Amino acid sequence: MSAPSSPIASQLEELRAQLRHHEHQYYVLDNPVITDAEYDVMMRSLQKLEAEHPELITPDSPTQRVGGKPREGFVKAPHSSAMLSLENALDEEELRAFDNRVRELLNGAEYRYAVELKMDGLSLATRYTGGVLQQAITRGDGSIGEEVTENARTIRSLPLRVGADRIFEARGEVILGRRAFERLNVERDAQQLPRFANPRNAAAGSLRMLETAVTASRRLDYYAYFLLDEAGAPIFDSHWESLDWLAAQGFLVNNKRRICANVDEVLDFCRQYDAERDNLPYEIDGVVIKIDSIPQQRQLGYTAKAPRWAIAFKYAARQAETLVEDILVQVGRTGALTPVACLAPQVVSGVTVSRATLHNEDEIARLGLQIGDRVLVERSGDVIPKVVRVTQEGEPQVRRPFVMPTECPVCSGRVVREEGEAASRCINVNCPARLKESIRHFASRSVMAIDGLGDVLIEQLVEAGLVRSVSDIYQLTQEQVAALERMGPKSASNLIENIAASRNMPLPRVLGALGIRFVGERTAELLADEFGHMDRIATATVEELQTAQEVGPKVAESIANFFREPHNADLLDRLRAAGLKFDHVVKKKEGGPLKGLNFVLTGTLPTLSRDEAKKLIEDAGGKVVGSVSSKTSFVVAGEEAGSKLEKAKTLGIALLDEAGLLEKLKTENS
Ligand code: IVH
Repeated sequence: MSAPSSPIASQLEELRAQLRHHEHQYYVLDNPVITDAEYDVMMRSLQKLEAEHPELITPDSPTQRVGGKPREGFVKAPHSSAMLSLENALDEEELRAFDNRVRELLNGAEYRYAVELKMDGLSLATRYTGGVLQQAITRGDGSIGEEVTENARTIRSLPLRVGADRIFEARGEVILGRRAFERLNVERDAQQLPRFANPRNAAAGSLRMLETAVTASRRLDYYAYFLLDEAGAPIFDSHWESLDWLAAQGFLVNNKRRICANVDEVLDFCRQYDAERDNLPYEIDGVVIKIDSIPQQRQLGYTAKAPRWAIAFKYAARQAETLVEDILVQVGRTGALTPVACLAPQVVSGVTVSRATLHNEDEIARLGLQIGDRVLVERSGDVIPKVVRVTQEGEPQVRRPFVMPTECPVCSGRVVREEGEAASRCINVNCPARLKESIRHFASRSVMAIDGLGDVLIEQLVEAGLVRSVSDIYQLTQEQVAALERMGPKSASNLIENIAASRNMPLPRVLGALGIRFVGERTAELLADEFGHMDRIATATVEELQTAQEVGPKVAESIANFFREPHNADLLDRLRAAGLKFDHVVKKKEGGPLKGLNFVLTGTLPTLSRDEAKKLIEDAGGKVVGSVSSKTSFVVAGEEAGSKLEKAKTLGIALLDEAGLLEKLKTENS
């Protein structure tokens, strides 16, 4: 890099360095120290300055993440050394066999394993020269891949610039986190585009978009797990050291990794993450086990296809074959009738599955499925299992087609399937099935997050007539709940507290809780940002609604229809009366209840995103700062809280979990 030669050039470099620092804080360390707005201001001044001096634009500038015109196609590019795949171990026995082979080949020398999660995405090689990202190449056939540099630049966790000057190549996995994947599918639904089957397909498709702006909108992540020099050879003497070095250069390196002294420790790691895998924010399909010492790796060498010094421990496939015994119909909160396959119980990766969703009549037709057929079912994460395909048709004498009922199976109301719609719906707004589903949605984790309000309790509350509309939950008393079967006074009062605490949920959550079709988490946030108040959204016209980002005619229509319906207008009034948040202005309240208090957020909170937690605190007049010091009033710690939590403990700073924070807002508010 040539040294900045003019004051403008050094001003540009200064701005870029600051932006890089904040991107690293945000996308890699998950620890933003400035607000999004502050970041935007900084980015805009860089854009402005670069527009005035286009000759000073460098490819590693943070403004260069999103490129210009769509491409024709991708150019092929050779790899410096083959991007190999790994042998698989499908169970403990195969892993032990691998370990025995290693021990023999190393002639009794001591060895350690570096053990990492096997991220389920696609691999990508990224080359750096003089500290700048030069080239990103997909795996391709292992020796030749495709150059996707421009698209890779849009991945915020992939550094465009690093500290080290030397030429090197990082290899890693491009993934789409679960949240980003779900959001993407909700958006696809809204645009009536086909859903992506899983995050891996979505990540692969997103990285290979001809239009870089589309890749940029997909929120991919890059986890580095391998380091090579220019010639494709290792740089350090241990793999672990390579990972630490990559992290120090600003790469996202998964910190769920471990050095294991023997195969038993490796198996412990594999079991631990098999149990936890559904709770991770991304999908994994196994564990990668590597000999840590590079000289020993060299000693072990390669077969034609894979290294002898590494193996992938694959988690059990999440698919299995079984029989469709019947097809029932469930009624959802929008009244949609969902056909559900009743299966001969079958264990799929450790969980017994006896139901799978079939979505709608069209899906059944697409699968060519009839009752009595054998099918492949798939379980992914905590999503409801689904039928992938028919593997064998049933015998003609037992095989029978599914027919959508013309009456609601719950309330006997009329069922209609509207023109252009995939779903058949029960049109009775008072259908108890719809009410239960509405409450279930309202209370769920990603919406109002009312812990303790589960299916059984919802059933009891509705059956006992205590809840006739979602808003009735805010009228429940501890005595009423405690009187229900299987409820004690303690769990009843916990529930009442959790219900009360949910009053502090921010507007996007409340909006999402209404269950408006096509209004998921992201759309709710964008709407709240655009309109700032529930009433303004409720009274907006279809045209006005479309001024919000990403809201097209179909979504706008759905929102307007929802609020036009008198039952929903009533619901809104009752939720208002219950004290839910309809307002969404970022008011830095002078005299707010948390005024003068400094908060530090660390780790992942169970239901609130970092932005939401921050907003709640700031709305109440508190301040959120990046690092823990003696001036910190509270550290709000979630899962995977790291050094900040340690520091807080050392300094004796008060700790809060999410419930504690919500409690604080509640008590400080009253
Ligand atoms: S190391 C020579 N580490 O799994 C060693 N791979 O079949 C090369 N993967 O193609 C791979 N997470 O796409 C390694 N922590 C990790 C990984 C990982 C995911 C993928 C990678 C590779 C495949 C191996």
